[in-house]
Amino acid sequence: MSNQSKTTKVGDASGRGTVAGYKVNFPARMRSYTESEIEAVVNVMRNAEVQTQGNYMKQFEADFKAYSGANYAFAVDNATSALRLAAIMCRIGPGDEVIAPGYTFCASAIPFGMTGATIVWADIDPKTWVVDPKSIESKITPKTKVLLVVHLLGMPVNMPAILAIAEKHNLRVVEDCAQAPGASINGKKVGSFGDFGCFSFHGAKNITTLGEGGMLTVRSAEDAALTPGLRHNGVRPFTGERQRYWVPAMSNVDIDLEDVWPNNFSIGEAQCALGSELLKTLDHNNDIIIAQATKLRAALSGIPEITFAHIPDGYRHIFHQFVLHFDGSAFGKNRNDLLDFLTEEAAVRAIVQYHPLFRYPLFQKLGAEQHNTPVLDDWWDNSFSLPWWIGMSDETLEYLADSVKAGVAALKAK
Ligand SMILES: Cc1ncc(COP(=O)(O)O)c(C=O)c1O
Repeated sequence: MSNQSKTTKVGDASGRGTVAGYKVNFPARMRSYTESEIEAVVNVMRNAEVQTQGNYMKQFEADFKAYSGANYAFAVDNATSALRLAAIMCRIGPGDEVIAPGYTFCASAIPFGMTGATIVWADIDPKTWVVDPKSIESKITPKTKVLLVVHLLGMPVNMPAILAIAEKHNLRVVEDCAQAPGASINGKKVGSFGDFGCFSFHGAKNITTLGEGGMLTVRSAEDAALTPGLRHNGVRPFTGERQRYWVPAMSNVDIDLEDVWPNNFSIGEAQCALGSELLKTLDHNNDIIIAQATKLRAALSGIPEITFAHIPDGYRHIFHQFVLHFDGSAFGKNRNDLLDFLTEEAAVRAIVQYHPLFRYPLFQKLGAEQHNTPVLDDWWDNSFSLPWWIGMSDETLEYLADSVKAGVAALKAK
């Protein structure tokens, strides 16, 4: 495959969707909908009795509970809402500390910041590139209440180690599984380890319920009893006998907590019907993306300057993204030099996905400053993502591998 397009540097920097001048772009969505998925949505439009809080939601929750192995599952409008519900149920506030990975998408941490608790940033593991249990443990103080872990890029965090730390220090564990539905450790799925698991079905994820969608998995019966009210404005049935159906009113409003306002984090029935349909092919699609990641890794394996996350035995990493690390220090080059080559010479629109959160103005303004994360600092400055979606052709994978190889060779020769 030859490079036929002249690269331009215009376009938005978010990295999604076609940008003129690039041969390989990040797609706006991970894959197209199948006819049976489209039919599932149209069927709700034609036949559903209610459009929210109905049987499709109940079915999606039952399907997700069965799929994930979690004790309870509650569908919500997105993962940020799932994280918000988890943060509320952790019962934290000013004076408490939440340990969170410095490297993740901003939505992991914002719901915890909203409680008034202090966020303490943990480092990443130098091999797996997700949050390091040892770093977490070193940051525990008497104020620590919650460990927030993120199965970032599809890689499971070492949950046995996290659960052991949480038990020793009596801490709550929240798993951000937004990028990892179907990832597992020795067959046990992410989202079934901690007190809460928070999943995203946003348009760029491997399950996408029409742009927005999410799921909260819950471990304890106590939290599960609180969730429906917190999710839906505290609406619940009146208890006791009702002589007339309209007295005292249609439904009651209350939650079993003294100091928390509920919200509306509900998701529509059409999205839930689609979610149930998408779950049927999730493992198959994850297999496809794992196979393509394995191919691309193999094609790039002969370049010592390029490395990948180590996948421990028994871990199912579902490659939500394909991230590489480039070390060109031996010849005085860095990640930005390689990305210059990829954009200008190969028309490959590689991106750097997110800053460590403590580098963003929002977190700095809110006082969530850095807390000693040397592995992350070094790793992040030299890592990047290649365009990625489910079902890339061998030709595209070869083109990406050849482009990276050519880039490294050109930088070495300069
Ligand atoms: C790691 C992580 N957490 C949370 C979220 C928030 O998900 P949502 O867009 O469904 O609110 C995302 C979305 O990209 C994410 O990647």
